[in-house]
Amino acid sequence: KKRVLSCIQPTGDMHFGNYFGAVKNWVELQATYECMYGVVDYHAMTMPFNPIKLRENTWELIFNLMAVGIEPQNLFIQSLVPEHTELCWIFNCFASYGQLSRMTQFKDKSATASEGEDGFISAGLFDYPVLQAADICVYRADYVPVGKDQEQHLELARNIVQRFNNQVGKEYLIMPEPLYTEFTKITSTADPSRKMSKSAGEKHYISLFSDSDKIRKQVRSAVTDTGENTGGEMSPGVKNLFELLKACEKIETYTALKADYDAGNLKYAPLKEAVAEALVEISEAVRSKRAELNTRKKEVKEEIKASSAQIRERAQQTLRNVKELAGLLNV
Ligand code: TYM
Repeated sequence: KKRVLSCIQPTGDMHFGNYFGAVKNWVELQATYECMYGVVDYHAMTMPFNPIKLRENTWELIFNLMAVGIEPQNLFIQSLVPEHTELCWIFNCFASYGQLSRMTQFKDKSATASEGEDGFISAGLFDYPVLQAADICVYRADYVPVGKDQEQHLELARNIVQRFNNQVGKEYLIMPEPLYTEFTKITSTADPSRKMSKSAGEKHYISLFSDSDKIRKQVRSAVTDTGENTGGEMSPGVKNLFELLKACEKIETYTALKADYDAGNLKYAPLKEAVAEALVEISEAVRSKRAELNTRKKEVKEEIKASSAQIRERAQQTLRNVKELAGLLNV
């Protein structure tokens, strides 16, 4: 069986961008592949963070992932598998400084960080994509389901693999392939020029676990036309609403409203209404599953610690081989 690995940062709520861009696909892949999904708390330290919140968010995300349908035995927490950071150091010595300097995520996030209180930009933020490469390679994963925003990071991982294999003279590390979903970029409803994202601030994402009225309100206030000339093309805000409808698998409604649009008589209110109700439907289902999990929190935490320990065994094996090949010593 081919192996699938992907990860998500515990930086707050899970939103519909994560869900349609990646996590929904993660759930479906479990039927076909051997899957491992990580909550990457080491990555979440690269931007300003609060230690108490970090641990809370990590568990919160674990519960949310289970609520959407990820099997607990496929889940792990990154900091319970220290081999990720050990492989990251080795990979640092195979990663190109120039390539890391060109990462758009680093440019965006370091710009955000520099606007913060003390303008601090951590070296961890710069190194973030190398740790991501280690996450993938430590399990020798074949496929990595991610949103299109992760393309540059996947390319870096592939370059590290190639350089490592070349230098040690053996095709030991597996060349990972990205798996992109059809819905590669869900944009912010408040500003359709940017992606839906937690780091941009509260109005820029719709949480999967919000109460229904908040979801409705956010969709109703979605930006549709900003007045700029789009040259006869659908404006980004309207396009995003149509994308969301499609992502929710409301194909009939999508087709009907799209026909209205093409005929030039689409009203935005019914489009927004349809999107809001579709999102609410998904949210209500996962919230009820989540409520059930809340009744046995302690048990679930133990389960995840056990699955992390199980998954760690594979990482330990890879690390032994990597160290051997790289001329390091094994204890
Ligand atoms: P994170 O937590 O920012 O995002 C998790 C996943 O959600 C996708 N995503 C989106 N897709 C479509 N539209 C959006 N607006 C949107 N926002 C987020 C992301 O593409 C991602 O797949 N660097 C990764 C975390 C990571 C990782 C890894 C992924 C760390 N190590 C190893 C794969 C393999 C990230 O940014 O996650």
